[in-house]
Order: sequence, then structure tokens, then C-alpha cells
Amino acid sequence: MKAGQAAIKKGLAVSAAVTAVLDAGAAPCVTLVEKVEQHPSELEHDGMNPVAHCLAMNNGSQCGYCSVGFVMNMSEFITNNPKATKKEIEDAFDGNLCRCTGYRSIMTGMKTFASDWSAADEANRMKCLADGQSASQLPGTVEIPFPKAARGRAQPVQATGDRQAWVTPLSLAELASLMQANRDKTLRLVHGNTSFGIYTTEYPTTRMFVDIRLIPELGGRAVIGKDELVIGAGNTYNDLLELTGAELQRRGPSATALVAIHYMARRTAGRIVRNAASLGGNTMLVLKHIAGNEDPFPSDLFTTLVAVGAVIEYVKRTWPSFSVA
Ligand SMILES: Cc1cc2nc3c(=O)[nH]c(=O)nc-3n(C[C@H](O)[C@H](O)[C@H](O)COP(=O)(O)OP(=O)(O)OC[C@H]3O[C@@H](n4cnc5c(N)ncnc54)[C@H](O)[C@@H]3O)c2cc1C
Ligand code: FES
Repeated sequence: MKAGQAAIKKGLAVSAAVTAVLDAGAAPCVTLVEKVEQHPSELEHDGMNPVAHCLAMNNGSQCGYCSVGFVMNMSEFITNNPKATKKEIEDAFDGNLCRCTGYRSIMTGMKTFASDWSAADEANRMKCLADGQSASQLPGTVEIPFPKAARGRAQPVQATGDRQAWVTPLSLAELASLMQANRDKTLRLVHGNTSFGIYTTEYPTTRMFVDIRLIPELGGRAVIGKDELVIGAGNTYNDLLELTGAELQRRGPSATALVAIHYMARRTAGRIVRNAASLGGNTMLVLKHIAGNEDPFPSDLFTTLVAVGAVIEYVKRTWPSFSVA
């Protein structure tokens, strides 16, 4: 979808349940970029998505409630990490829950894609007898679908509905003038929008959603010096994990504060949320709900940031521009 492009910086799995294409009231212009029939489909007998096929062949789906999430997460993960090991594949599923099949059969199927899946693993694996219907499915030889239209740089989205509007500024300066021009409206900055399901009452009253994902000044900064880590608010949890993970491998386990940050970021949500959720969004959820009668937001990462003495640098609205504080 054209509108959905703004939700994607690169091809990453995100949770469909929490990723807004556009919020209600501001989406009169959602159009399909490609026709559905242009994609390989089971009905045309071009073959199943190989991950879905593998899940079926390994009896990894019982009621099917969780299966879409497992297939979606793995399809993206293995496309972007074709040399992933068994351990990396297992780690990629830390946020996917299944309540009825059980993880052994699901994980066995997924790990057959691993670069270190060995003959011994194959010999010792849980045996699976395909039933008549699943055995008749075409083998998973098709390329995992990833629409061309969803690749490349995300495009800004502007949309106006009866009550709400969605705008996408492309720089801090543009954000400043936009906020100034709309001072009389209830505005909401939106990054990953994963708070959509948490403070639901804040959405209907919003008149203008300001999508800040394409503002380069928010995302660019991520530097680890000898004694400090500086990271922009627009970085996601997975950006932070990649940065700290690489640094920890270089330094070894002695850097305590960095280990703590990495550990708690890793324990936040699951991979498909961490692909979208930003550090700025998480911080603001805590700060905006810290006082008052409503529920405070109990952030895991923020607790660690307080413990390690993190400092927030923020921009102040000093119309007509912003200044750093
Ligand atoms: C399924 C699920 C599981 C989760 N599990 C955990 C968990 O285990 N532990 C945990 O701590 N959290 C958890 N969360 C919460 C998640 O970490 C936060 O929702 C997320 O970090 C918010 O980031 P975002 O980019 O999506 O923010 P958004 O939802 O886009 O915004 C959140 C708030 O911050 C403001 N904002 C966003 N960016 C900025 C900015 N740059 N400057 C100023 N204001 C800004 C917005 O206006 C809004 O008020 C979970 C969320 C989901 C959906
Ligand atoms: S198959 Fe039922 S929840 Fe996983």
C-alpha cells in the first residue's frame, strides 16, 4: 500500500496488530500498489511460502492463531539474514507465543533453514509424518514474497479526513513550522506507533498525527565512545541492540552499563515490535504518564537508563524554531 510505505524504513517485520497504515479518520487514500493476483499464490499452484510450507510439514500449526506471526517473522528474518544460525533463529522468536502446538515442532521446522543445520540434526530431529492434505501441497520452492513496491526509501504521507489529518515533515525545521502553524490543534507525534493499544483514549481526541520517522536529525546519531553511548530518539530497539551487541562482542563482558542496556532492550516486547518501537517513543511514554491519575508506563529500558545515569537531550519549542536543551 502506498500509505504503508511510510511504516517501513527497510524490509522489516512489524506487528500488523500495532502498525497503523494510517489512523482512523485520516485515511481516504489507501490504494493497492500491486494487484494481489500478481503475487505467487497457493491457488495458482505456484507453491506456498516456503516458511509456511515448512511449518505445515513439521506439524507446527494446530489452531493456527499464532502461525501467521511465526511465518511473517521468519520470512523477513531469513530473507534479511540468509546465513542465520539455529541459535539466531531461535532468538528471533523471543516475542512469538504459541499456546497450543508447542515450540518443539515449530522451532524444528524453522531451524531447518539455518546455515548450521547439519546431517546429525536432520537424523536426530523430531520425526514428522505429513498427512494427506499437507503432503499434497507443492514444495516451497518459490521466493519468499517481498513486494518490490515496499522496497526502497519510504515516501512521506499526507492525508486529511473529516476530523483528523496525518502529516509527515522531513526535517526538524519543517516540524517546527508545522507545529507552530497548528498550535490550536491537538497534535500527536508518531514514530513506531506501538503505543496505539496502550493509551487508546489519546487517539480519538488527536486532530493531527505528525509522523516523525523520516526526520533524519532524529535517527542519525548512534555513537559509542569510550565512556558514553549517544543515540538519537528515532533509533529503534533493534538499532540499539545491533549497536550495543556489536560493541559488546568487541569489548567482551566487562562493560557493565552497556550489558545492562543490551539485556533490558532485548527483554522488551518481541522482535517485530522492536523493529518499529523507537527509544524516543518509549521515553516519552514514561515521561508523559509519570504523574496524574492515569496509569504510569512501566518501561523496562527506562528503568535501566535511570540506573546507568542516562541524560536526555531534547529540543525546546522556541517559536519559530527549536533549540537544544
Ligand atoms: C506488543 C507490545 C509489547 C511491548 N512490550 C514491552 C515491554 O516488554 N517492555 C516495555 O518497556 N515496553 C513494551 N512495549 C511498549 C513499547 O516499548 C513502546 O510502545 C514503544 O517503545 C514506543 O515507541 P514508538 O516509537 O512506537 O512510540 P509511539 O507509539 O509512536 O509514541 C509514543 C509516545 O511518544 C511520543 N513520541 C514518540 N517519539 C517522540 C519523539 N522523538 N519526541 C517526542 N515525543 C515522541 C508520541 O507522541 C507518543 O506520545 C510493548 C509494546 C507492544 C505493542
Ligand atoms: S497453533 Fe494455536 S496458538 Fe499456536
